[in-house]
Order: sequence, then C-alpha cells, then structure tokens
Amino acid sequence: MNEFGGNWTDAKIEILVEYAKAYLTIMNKYADRFGWNLLYFDGFAGSGSITKGNDENKKVILGAAKRILEIDEPRSFDEYYFVEKDTHNAQELKSSISSTNKKVYVVNEDCNAKIHSMGQFLKSSKGKNRKVLAYIDPCGMQLNWNSLTSLKESNVDAWILVPTGMGVNRLLKKDGKISEAWIEKLETFLGMSRTDILSNFYNQSEVITLFGEEKVTTKTEKAVEKSAEIYKNRLNELFKHVTEPYILKNSSNSIMFHFFMVSNNRNAVKIANQIINKYNN
Ligand SMILES: C[S@@+](CC[C@H](N)C(=O)[O-])C[C@H]1O[C@@H](n2cnc3c(N)ncnc32)[C@H](O)[C@@H]1O
Repeated sequence: MNEFGGNWTDAKIEILVEYAKAYLTIMNKYADRFGWNLLYFDGFAGSGSITKGNDENKKVILGAAKRILEIDEPRSFDEYYFVEKDTHNAQELKSSISSTNKKVYVVNEDCNAKIHSMGQFLKSSKGKNRKVLAYIDPCGMQLNWNSLTSLKESNVDAWILVPTGMGVNRLLKKDGKISEAWIEKLETFLGMSRTDILSNFYNQSEVITLFGEEKVTTKTEKAVEKSAEIYKNRLNELFKHVTEPYILKNSSNSIMFHFFMVSNNRNAVKIANQIINKYNN
C-alpha cells in the first residue's frame, strides 16, 4: 500500500478520472469507425491503494490504476499498461487486480525506459492505430526530460505531475551553491544545461564591501512559479497544446506540485482546462 498524500491526492485522481471518462466518451464515437486501439499507460502506478493521514485519522482510497480500470461506460480502454518500479508495490497491484478480465499488463520496471519504448512503438507501423491516455504521477523528480521527448508528435494525451515546489525549488539552494549531484538531477529533470538553469533562477550583482567589490548570487523570487512556467514552455516544445496547471498546495499553502495535461489535440486540452479550472477554484 502506498502511503502519502494530502487532499490533493483525491483531487488529482478525480481530475484524471473525469478526463478519462470524457476521453472515452469521445473515443467511443470514433474508435471503431477508424480502427483505433485505446491504450491507458500509467508510468508510476503504485500499489492499487493509497493510505492517507495518521494512525488516529487513517483513510484508504483506491489508487488511480484501480479507478481507471473500473470505468466501463461508455466503454473501457482496450489495454492497460501499468509501470511500477517498486517490486512490492507492483506485486500488490498485480494481485489486487487479478480478477479483472480486461487486458492488463503490470510491469516492474523504470518508467523512463517504458516511456521511451512506448514512444518508439507509437512511431512504428504497429503503433500507428493506437491512441494513448497516459498518467505520469511520480512522487519526486523521477521523470527524466529525455523520456518525454520520445513522445513528441505522438497520439498521446498525458497528465504529468511536476514537482516544482517539493522538487526543483528544494534543489535550487538560496546562495546558488548547488552540489554536483543536485545540479545533475536538475539537468536531467528539466532537460536544460546548468548554465541555463543558473541564469534562469539566479541573479548576479556586485556589492561594495569593506574589502572592495564582491559578486553576490541571489535566487530569483517565485522560483516555484518560474519552474512551472519553464516546464510548461518546455512541454510546449514537444506537444502542441498544454493546459494551465492544477496547483497542489500543502496545509501551509505552499505549492508542492503543478499538474499539467498535454496533447496534440486542441479540444482535448480545452476539456482538460475546464476540469482543471473547476478544481483550482
Ligand atoms: C505517487 S506514487 C503513485 C501513486 C499512484 N498513481 C496511485 O494513484 O496510486 C509514485 C509511485 O511511483 C513508484 N516509482 C518511483 N520511481 C519510479 C520509477 N522510476 N519508475 C516507475 N515507478 C516508480 C513508487 O514506488 C510509487 O509507488
């Protein structure tokens, strides 16, 4: 059982499920006519259920994988592909959905490798008739930018959780003295060079001190919002349309994540934006 999440966990899953139902309603009209095969891909699938709260106030909810599998009307997906790196979680998920008669794969691997394989597959002749709804729900900075690039120009609508506040911002040290491991992580995650990262998030100024002029590095204000804006622009280089984000805050009102949907279909993003607006308000 996965243990994490504030109220945003519920909202995130409700947003995804609402979109999936709208997606399947639209696809139901066209899939048979055009011979499309509908695939649901979950890159960070979890164990099937989520435990929230503490010992006195514990609540267990169904994870996204099971919620999506429950959808039958107006139709279900043709295939489900769940990726989960943790062996115990993958086994738990597998056994908790073993009674389904749907075509389901649970793969105990790294999401990055599987997104890459999916990208290759969708570009092949076998993948041309596939339409994919993807859910990328990491708990931290596990998604590499490079993996997403393999989905460029493909028939994928993807919901992507971006750890702006609880990931990127935490690695951007106030004084700019970021360790080698952290700057490498930022490079891999954002797909940007360290020069670009530093110039986007830090300002250099010179101050007069007792011993003459000194260079001072200061972190930009609103680094969380800025990281979301940068990530959104990066997504727009791969997908024609990107939604406004659903913003996930903790109990102290600090932003933890931004949740985006990307697609090459304008109407898909329009529908997603309507759902996001409802939850942001
Ligand atoms: C936030 S949880 C996912 C929750 C799930 N979407 C749900 O609704 O129940 C993130 C999951 O990703 C898994 N994970 C972490 N790194 C991963 C990786 N590189 N590839 C695949 N899964 C990974 C973790 O073990 C964890 O179960």
